[in-house]
Amino acid sequence: MQNQLFSGKTFLITGIADKNSLAMFVAKKIKENGGAVVCTGLGISPFHKNLSERAQAFLQKNHEDFVAAVQSELGDTVTAILDVTIDESIESFAIALKEKNIKLNGFLHAIAMDKTIRQKEVKPLIEVTKDEFCDTMEVSAYSLIRLAYYLMKFDILQPDSSICSLSYIAAAKVTFHPYRNISIAKAALERITIELADELGRLNGTRVNAIRFSPYMGSKAGNATLTENVIETSDEISPLGNATPDDLSNEVIHLFRPNGRITGEIRHVDGGYNIMG
Ligand SMILES: NC(=O)c1ccc[n+]([C@@H]2O[C@H](COP(=O)([O-])OP(=O)(O)OC[C@H]3O[C@@H](n4cnc5c(N)ncnc54)[C@H](O)[C@@H]3O)[C@@H](O)[C@H]2O)c1
Repeated sequence: MQNQLFSGKTFLITGIADKNSLAMFVAKKIKENGGAVVCTGLGISPFHKNLSERAQAFLQKNHEDFVAAVQSELGDTVTAILDVTIDESIESFAIALKEKNIKLNGFLHAIAMDKTIRQKEVKPLIEVTKDEFCDTMEVSAYSLIRLAYYLMKFDILQPDSSICSLSYIAAAKVTFHPYRNISIAKAALERITIELADELGRLNGTRVNAIRFSPYMGSKAGNATLTENVIETSDEISPLGNATPDDLSNEVIHLFRPNGRITGEIRHVDGGYNIMG
């Protein structure tokens, strides 16, 4: 018999690029526990203006991969295009949920982007431009605030909801492999988590947490930024070895569990990497 932990509950899962996205593992686990999901991915929206041919092709391909992955892994599921850098995109997504009478009991923020990492080469922080810094911050950190804002403005996100975002140890410590610009956005994401936990917890019981996860090369973002060497070294340093996407999903499920009392936490699902010297 199916586990009914999330019976009658619906969660928004952002950040699905394909079936190997960390967000996909979480979506599957929610469904296994009797919950419903709404999934968002990047694609061409009416709000994208003056897109170059290259950008159009990128967004189009991303959307096709996203929809195909959701269909094959999750079956019949509500999907929507969402670009968190465009306010109108977030607002129209929230309005569309309202029109469908969909209420959410939480969401997973699994979105990050840093153009200063190219072909696994990390730009030194000293050379990062203001645009590169602000773009990374906007997509990877500020978007948590904006998404929560619009979902609350249109009463989509219900009181006592649970919000979870995905971070990395580099938010707090210089890692053995450079992470530079994005590490600052992850630090901001974690601080936003804590401030929102206070604000929204007092407002209506909403919980807000973040999870620092082990390096994982299976996803598009992981594959674009990491090397086998990073995965192996991290695996050796961690007392329990690297955590898996399944470990991560189990923790998100725990944080999404109804009536929990955990909020404002930056949790580690990393095989113990964080305790090492
Ligand atoms: N892979 C790892 O090693 C690792 C480790 C710890 C934390 N994380 C974090 O997990 C999260 C998910 O990453 P992943 O590894 O599953 O990679 P992924 O490439 O599958 O997911 C990243 C997602 O961000 C989305 N995105 C980028 N710009 C966006 C925008 N403007 N609007 C909306 N969505 C946008 C992409 O479409 C993609 O779906 C990220 O926050 C990442 O930093 C990853």
